[in-house]
Order: sequence, then C-alpha cells, then structure tokens
Amino acid sequence: MAGRHSTIYVSLAAAMIFLGVLHLSRQGKGITMMAPGSERYKEITAEDQTIMQEPEPLDTAWWTPFVNQMARPFSILPKDPFWCVPRPILEMTNGDNITTASNKGLYLVKIPKTASSTAAGVTIQIARNTAARMASQTTISDSLNMECMYHIDHGMAHVDRQDPFFLWTVVRHPAQRAVSHYFFGEVSRRGAPFTSDGMIASLKRHVNFQFRQLARKRVDDGNATLVQTRYHLESPRTTPKNVLDMIQTDILENFHFIGISERLDESLVALKMILNLNMEDVIGLSSKISGKMDDGGFDGTCHNIQTSRTTAEVDQYLSQEFRIDNYDFFLYDVANRSLDLTIDAFGREPFRKELEKYHAMKQYAEEQCLSKVLFPCTEVGQPPWPEAKHSCFKGDIGCGHECVQQALREFATTPRYLTNRRK
Ligand SMILES: *[C@@H]1O[C@H](CO)[C@@H](O)[C@H](O)[C@H]1NC(C)=O
Ligand SMILES: *[C@@H]1O[C@H](CO)[C@@H](O)[C@H](O)[C@H]1NC(C)=O
Ligand SMILES: *[C@@H]1O[C@H](CO)[C@@H](O)[C@H](O)[C@H]1NC(C)=O
Repeated sequence: MAGRHSTIYVSLAAAMIFLGVLHLSRQGKGITMMAPGSERYKEITAEDQTIMQEPEPLDTAWWTPFVNQMARPFSILPKDPFWCVPRPILEMTNGDNITTASNKGLYLVKIPKTASSTAAGVTIQIARNTAARMASQTTISDSLNMECMYHIDHGMAHVDRQDPFFLWTVVRHPAQRAVSHYFFGEVSRRGAPFTSDGMIASLKRHVNFQFRQLARKRVDDGNATLVQTRYHLESPRTTPKNVLDMIQTDILENFHFIGISERLDESLVALKMILNLNMEDVIGLSSKISGKMDDGGFDGTCHNIQTSRTTAEVDQYLSQEFRIDNYDFFLYDVANRSLDLTIDAFGREPFRKELEKYHAMKQYAEEQCLSKVLFPCTEVGQPPWPEAKHSCFKGDIGCGHECVQQALREFATTPRYLTNRRK
C-alpha cells in the first residue's frame, strides 16, 4: 500500500513541477490541479486525503519535491540599519514585558530548544552595538547607553509587529527539538520520571510546534481576532495548497532570516552578512555552555539538564506517527536549503573566509572569558547566583558579553589576528 501511495504523491508533485504554475483550486472534498489549456489533471480524492495521513518515510512525503522549489536565498539588506529604533538601554526584568512594550525593531522568534538563548544574546548584542555605532555618528553623546528596540520572546509578540522591523528565528530538526523539549521541560525541570508513554504523550503535543509558532498571525474569524495559523495544521481538510501557502506567505515572505540550530555558526555569519554587521556583533558565549545546567528561571532553583535518550518505542513513534502531517519537517528542510542558497549568493569562498574569521574570534573570546564569567547556575538545587546578573543580559542570555566584546577589541591587535588576515 505505502508504495502505491508514495507513487501517487510523487507523480502528482512531479506533474505540478513539470507543468509549472498550475491552477490549484479547492473543489468539494478534494483539490483539482489543472494546467490552463491542458487535459492533464489529477484530482485528490477523499481517499487520497486519507492516504496522506498514513505513515510514510520522510523522503517520500508529498512535499519532498517542493523543498527545492520553495527554498530561496535570504536577501542582503541595505547598509543603513533601517530596523534599528534607538532607545536608552532598558533594565531587563524576568518577564518579557519591557522588551515587548514596543512593537518595532529587532525580533527574534525564540523557539524553545533551538539554541534560542544563544540567539537571544546575539540579538541583544546586535541591538547594543548597532545603536552605539549610530549614536557615535551623531551628536548623541551617551552612545554606550543606547540600544535598538528588540524582542526575544518565546511567545507571539511578532504577530503585532510594525515597521520598521527585522524578523528572524532559528529552527531545529523537529524530532531532536521535541525530544530535547521533553527532557528539558518535563524531566529536568519538573522532575517527571522518564517513561516511553510520558515521552510519546509529550512529543504528540509538539507536532507542528515550530511551524505554528512562525506562521501564527491575527486571523479575523468574524467575531474576534484570534492569533492562530491560517489553516488548521492537523485537520484532514487542510490541503497541500494550504500548507504551501502558509510556508510561502506566512513564513518565508515574513522572515528576513531563518537560521538552523545544527548550523548555528554558519547561521550567525549569514545573519552578520545580511545585516551588514561587524563580526563581534554576532559573537557571544553559548548560553548552555556545558549543556548541563538551566538558568534557574523556572522555579528559582538550578536544574541539571538531563541528556536526551529514547527507547525503541519512542523511536518507532518518531519515525512514523510523529511525521504525519508534521510540516515542521517540511519547514526545516526548506530553511536548511535556503541557508545553502544564501551562502551561494554570498559566494562560497567569501563566506568560507568570513566563517574562518568568526571561528578565530570566537575561540579567542572563549579563551579570554570562559573561565572568568559567572553563569547563573553552577550548582543543582541552589538558586542562581545573584552576581550573574551583572555578567549576563538576563537569565543565562549573553553571559560574559562585556568580557567578550572587550576581548574582541583586543583581538584586532593580536599577532593571531594579523596572521589570519594576511592569509
Ligand atoms: C506582564 O504584563 C502583564 C499584563 O500587563 C501582567 O499581567 C504580568 O504580571 C506582567 N509580568 C511581569 C513579569 O511583570
Ligand atoms: C460568532 O459568535 C456567535 C455567537 O457566539 C456564534 O454562533 C458564531 O458561530 C460565531 N461566528 C464565527 C465565525 O465563529
Ligand atoms: C542541511 O544542509 C546541509 C548542507 O547542505 C546538509 O549537509 C544536511 O544534510 C542538511 N540536513 C538535512 C537534515 O537535510
């Protein structure tokens, strides 16, 4: 059976590519695909809709052929930081209230367990350095006390954004992310015992997790405006056209950049190039530096982050049912491919040089700062160190940022830098 289903979808998708842009229109219970002036069409019947919900290995999912078609390079923006709305630096609180008080600026949609705290630290560093550069070019004297407005929310503040803004995020392999979320949130922080059933129940809640967070918008349902995706992601009535539409219009056309957690260094260098930044703007110490402690922000005590593991039952679930209608896989593949295209657009060789410079600078910053910086959590069961507040932007975000930026100013005068530059 599975073979036949795959064939239907692969040939269906191939026909669409072959015929170029086709009319896709919903008709009754299925969708009809028709090329103008052609007899060739394939109707998706109710039976086909059911087939789409059957487990299929990822490489034969109906959307596979669309990955290359949807992927696109992210554009390099004008040199002028149009997205920067300067303001005096605000004291951070533990809620996101202060940072969400305005709906403009630099937005990171912070998806949990995608290296998002590290990305948040970079976001704030960019906001500080950019505002300082802008201020130094004007008569504003306190350039060190300015930052661009930014948002680093786990939530959905981005749905209410207004111009000017720059919107970015980081996505991660969906199965890895969901597993990590379970271990972090339920086992490490809440102390739930690890069981296959408990884990599968949690993973079920994480189908389309990333897709939903990025594609959410205000949707007027007649009575009120709700924040949701345009089409219900797990409904059998959702057609391939709906999914393609959401990826294209609600995600790719909205985001200025989407990074990849597994390729964070490349992603940050690409972000630097897109925004015309200096390299030091995108360098910070990783938030979960040892990968072993959280930030103590959950219940006031520090938790050990347990190493993720699965069971045969969980693996079975992840390879089959978890993939059904889970367009996080589609989104992830499109984003991964888009990063490649972005690198190609810069030119592979110039990009490689930038990446090399990034690594050299980051390594220098780590050598200078790692042993000196206080992270909020170093002891399980203890409250986070109050002194860490001074070294981090907030929680475990951007810890050691002052040391890092200072080290990178020195780096430019070291023999290592000069050697590197001559290469
Ligand atoms: C954030 O604002 C909301 C609504 O004004 C309020 O209910 C909440 O307590 C605030 N949170 C913090 C941490 O200040
Ligand atoms: C609007 O609200 C009314 C009354 O609560 C309800 O009957 C109707 O279905 C709602 N309309 C939509 C589009 O949700
Ligand atoms: C992401 O892209 C990289 C570089 O092209 C590739 O090596 C890797 O296999 C891709 N990852 C996935 C999950 O497709």
